[in-house]
Amino acid sequence: MTWQLRRATAADLDAIMTIESNVFGSDAWSVELMRGELASPHSYYLVAFSPDVPDRVDGYAGLLAPLGAGEGDIQTVAVAGAARRQGLGRTLILSLVNEARDRGASELFLEVRADNAGAQALYELLGFEQIAVRAGYYQPDNVDAHVMRLRLPAPHTKPAVSG
Ligand SMILES: CC(C)(COP(=O)(O)OP(=O)(O)OC[C@H]1O[C@@H](n2cnc3c(N)ncnc32)[C@H](O)[C@@H]1OP(=O)(O)O)[C@@H](O)C(=O)NCCC(=O)NCCS
Repeated sequence: MTWQLRRATAADLDAIMTIESNVFGSDAWSVELMRGELASPHSYYLVAFSPDVPDRVDGYAGLLAPLGAGEGDIQTVAVAGAARRQGLGRTLILSLVNEARDRGASELFLEVRADNAGAQALYELLGFEQIAVRAGYYQPDNVDAHVMRLRLPAPHTKPAVSG
């Protein structure tokens, strides 16, 4: 399957919330929280859709990276069950990494449940490293959060040298 990404708008709220509540259960965000995220100038949310079914959202991901802050946070990522393990999660996160770099972030952070080995594997593949543990961060399940960080070095450009 192939997907295209586009910037999420308030019109995507229902589709995002359907995946959000299916995937995250007791950790799911409220519709009000998600609406605020989509509207914030400091946020950047993407949705993924198949060109054959442009009205169906198969995944989404969100970044919080205020201009000038120098750092950002991956706020969320979710891929619908039928669309998993086909590279979409990786593509979504890489797109957020690029946007964070464009916004001047030199570090990117995220929190992931200690029992979410799949998401941790994806983040490690992309270069994130665990830097801290927040005990009991996820309630009511009382599951720890692993805090992960990706350094985003500034690109170095050099004039081409001939000869
Ligand atoms: C985590 C999630 C977004 C990954 O999306 P995805 O589209 O399936 O991920 P990708 O296909 O891009 O995976 C890329 C690589 O990450 C790793 N990976 C992804 N999911 C994995 C899993 N469940 N177990 C082990 N490794 C996994 C693999 O190395 C994979 O490459 P491979 O398929 O060639 O082995 C998806 O499983 C999901 O929505 N999970 C529920 C929501 C969630 O946990 N979000 C993260 C909250 S912090």
